[in-house]
Amino acid sequence: MGPLETQWFPLLTGAGLVLAALVFFALFFVSAPYGRHARPGWGPSLNSRLAWMLMEFPSPAVFLACFLWGHGAQGGCVWALVLLWLIHYTHRAFIFPLRLHEHARRTPLLIVLFAILFNVFNGYLNGRYLGLHAADYGPAWIAGPRFLLGALGFAAGFAINLHADQVLIALRRPGETAYKIPRGGFYRWVSCPNYLGELIEWSGWALATWSLPGLSFALWTAANLIPRARAHHAWYRRQFPDYPPGRTAILPFLF
Ligand SMILES: NC(=O)c1ccc[n+]([C@@H]2O[C@H](COP(=O)([O-])OP(=O)(O)OC[C@H]3O[C@@H](n4cnc5c(N)ncnc54)[C@H](OP(=O)(O)O)[C@@H]3O)[C@@H](O)[C@H]2O)c1
Repeated sequence: MGPLETQWFPLLTGAGLVLAALVFFALFFVSAPYGRHARPGWGPSLNSRLAWMLMEFPSPAVFLACFLWGHGAQGGCVWALVLLWLIHYTHRAFIFPLRLHEHARRTPLLIVLFAILFNVFNGYLNGRYLGLHAADYGPAWIAGPRFLLGALGFAAGFAINLHADQVLIALRRPGETAYKIPRGGFYRWVSCPNYLGELIEWSGWALATWSLPGLSFALWTAANLIPRARAHHAWYRRQFPDYPPGRTAILPFLF
């Protein structure tokens, strides 16, 4: 790390943590205008499949480049962490968009640009951190409780997220755009198990890496998804008088 980067890296990490807190509060008042919360006045939009690919591809690309730019390639065990990131983002950037219905709602270009900016920032912080600290994640770390519990949480969250997204996709036949009440799996308890799964995944990542960039990402995920889950939940209740009364928004039995 050069002298300039040594100074700005902790500053950027700190800025990430502070911004996550601000975004968390802001999103309780303004829902990101895509999907069911889309509304006019947000400029041009893109086909959703293309939007997801453009938004998410920078994350694995920047993460991997920054990881290799450090001493990452020399560490053996740290690749276990890299693999978790790449599995998630290979799915999110390439497989998930192709599973969406061809005529899914369009995504505003502004959302795509914000997401790219965030993914470059987040990929840099996490990839660079792991590349520079590769030697810390040796055999003792990989066999230790933080990695094992974190990786287990990551895998469980990934499975919950995949299943929940699949339930939503299966609700519509090709060409349909209406919303229906999702059921089964974690939908028994919450309105947005896909968001719950994502939150568990990145909390697992924060634990497995025990790093400030990892914590920053987990907080960003919470900042994005907790207010959005509450907005989805309130929307379901307004739309469907027979909506299951026992469900909470994102955390079973809590909220
Ligand atoms: N890490 C992060 O910060 C972050 C941020 C955002 C998203 N994500 C992840 O990205 C994935 C997609 O997020 P999202 O915000 O687009 O999720 P979403 O609002 O749950 O929508 C996912 C897809 O399912 C469709 N859908 C949702 N509810 C439906 C219903 N009741 N009936 C029929 N179709 C329904 C949506 O259609 P419409 O487009 O027509 O609504 C959309 O195509 C999730 O896995 C999420 O965890 C992660």
